[in-house]
Amino acid sequence: MIHSISIITQRGHTLSIKAAGSAGPVVMLIHGFPLDHRMWLKQILPLAERFRVLVPELRGFGGSTVDADYSMVDLAEDIEQVRVHLASREQIHLVGLSMGGYVCFEYWRAFGPQLKSLVFANTKPSIDDEPTQQRRLAMAEQVLITGTWAAVAPMMERLIPASAFGTQIETDMQHMMQSASPQAVAAAQRAMANRLDFVPLLKTIKTPTLVITGQYDVIAPPEPTRAWSEQIPNAQFVELTGSGHMTTLEVPEDFNRVLLEFLNSQS
Ligand code: MLT
Repeated sequence: MIHSISIITQRGHTLSIKAAGSAGPVVMLIHGFPLDHRMWLKQILPLAERFRVLVPELRGFGGSTVDADYSMVDLAEDIEQVRVHLASREQIHLVGLSMGGYVCFEYWRAFGPQLKSLVFANTKPSIDDEPTQQRRLAMAEQVLITGTWAAVAPMMERLIPASAFGTQIETDMQHMMQSASPQAVAAAQRAMANRLDFVPLLKTIKTPTLVITGQYDVIAPPEPTRAWSEQIPNAQFVELTGSGHMTTLEVPEDFNRVLLEFLNSQS
């Protein structure tokens, strides 16, 4: 069974968290943009057989209240609040997909000793090039005028491969993307445009790390992802065959098998 919990974080924000599992180490799952806890629905119950699973929703997404201006550092502090309030201050396994991965890098920088392990899925440590940064800032303005769907719909073809169009995966993605508020989309794009470059820090990551991406991911393609994962001293890299960016939805059985093998080897 999946429970809903809320906590109040710094600056009075309400953070919505889904929780499952009653025993074992804590695994926290951090969603991508512009999504919410539903992108982890195929992971939560399988993981909950051996782990306590916590799925916080980032500011403005799912049931969490909107904040018009924040940084990746603030999101890492929210994760720490969840650990303090709901994980008895234990060390955690932290798993992030795409934007969730950017949050994991910041969490590692600020709270590294609290980590048992790190899992980076379909993400990257580098900052945006100039055109990408400009596109993010343009979307942050446009979405407040046009509303969410008009602004984010063009992203779909980069998030899922052509073979997933017309399937339940596209429908699930649409539902999540449509339910994000324009303010949440704008604030997240600004925070991502201003994130820190973690490439120079990769060689200093001592936490056991798993890096996953999809064969057809155009946002975090396999070869550059393998290359940066090799800079982390204690990292494994896995490419999931047949998947694009949304590995948790597109190939959930393979994703879960790889994730559980890694987490079991660390627990
Ligand atoms: C995501 O899936 O979280 C986004 O594609 C991340 C990004 O825009 O860089």
